[in-house]
Amino acid sequence: MLLDGTDPADVQRAAELLAAGELVAIPTETVYGLAARADDDAAVAKIYAVKGRPVGHPLIVHVAAPDESAAFATDVPEVAQRLMRAFWPGPVTLIVPRAAGKGDAAAAGQGTIGLRCPSHSVVRALFAAARQLGVPGLAAPSANRFGRISPTRAAHVVDEFGDALVVLDGGACDVGIESTIVDCTRGYPVLLRPGMIARERIEAAAGEPLREGDAEAPRAPGTLAAHYAPKAKLRLMPQQMLTSALQLLGDEPLKLAVYSRSVPLGTARGVRHRRMPLRPDQAAQELFNTLREFDAEGAQLIWVEEPPEDPAWDGVRDRLQRAAAS
Ligand code: TXA
Ligand code: MG
Repeated sequence: MLLDGTDPADVQRAAELLAAGELVAIPTETVYGLAARADDDAAVAKIYAVKGRPVGHPLIVHVAAPDESAAFATDVPEVAQRLMRAFWPGPVTLIVPRAAGKGDAAAAGQGTIGLRCPSHSVVRALFAAARQLGVPGLAAPSANRFGRISPTRAAHVVDEFGDALVVLDGGACDVGIESTIVDCTRGYPVLLRPGMIARERIEAAAGEPLREGDAEAPRAPGTLAAHYAPKAKLRLMPQQMLTSALQLLGDEPLKLAVYSRSVPLGTARGVRHRRMPLRPDQAAQELFNTLREFDAEGAQLIWVEEPPEDPAWDGVRDRLQRAAAS
């Protein structure tokens, strides 16, 4: 069922459902989330069940403001405080030490918790209504079935879970790929997942360089082979290889979709072609919707031109590499 995120009565309804321990899919500036109140382990357990997410894989808890982190976190490191001041509300998740007994199910039993303060106006209104009802924060993974592409529109969430799930419609997400995740629990900041906030900006705000990590590294071993995967088989290729591969295609009907910045030769023979935007922020914004459209059109293969080496493309490149690896 769709609720209208611009209608205060619908936002109130969503807040009431969440307060009562029900699931509601919510818009954020990055992607849609499948939310439950984070202080209710039974409500959070429904997320794992509906999504098919392996137990042991922690969820991000969304809070309305930096000081509301205190409901879930303790001894928040200096570097995390600096990143909160610089980027919240916004598309940055911080892993910090967890307060004992708070958000147990959301954290999947870990001693740390991932916190994020989203900026989307609909979720801001939802937080205001939910706070009145005593909800301290919302646990929410991306609102897709486990291993599939994150949803960036309300219709994508309906495609994933059907009409029974309540979805608060906030339109198309601005950022389009998931938040940047920085682990602040190791004494130095570690980039677990690149997003759309430039690395230099994070390092400038942190006051030190970021080291590398991996948010998708299996916490429940062997369960994460297919992440961010469209139904079609995706291949990532340099522009020259893409051009050659297209020239080698025969005339046999092939359900092939091509996503590239250049217009390659050979896209005439029934091959679907879409232009990848030249700007990384625009490419991120439409990436998951484009992959879903190719799937909906029945593509069996998706050939994607590798994005530029530039660090501004790190987030988009990361999602494409994961989709290609599955
Ligand atoms: O933009 C986003 O981050 C979206 C929106 C809905 O906020 N959420 C999202 O959640 O992408 P999800 O569950 O699909 O990805 C969360 C990532 C996972 O890779 C998980 O391993 C990591 O965050 N994570 C969460 N809590 C963690 C923790 N305590 N320690 C390490 N990694 C954690
Ligand atoms: Mg996800």
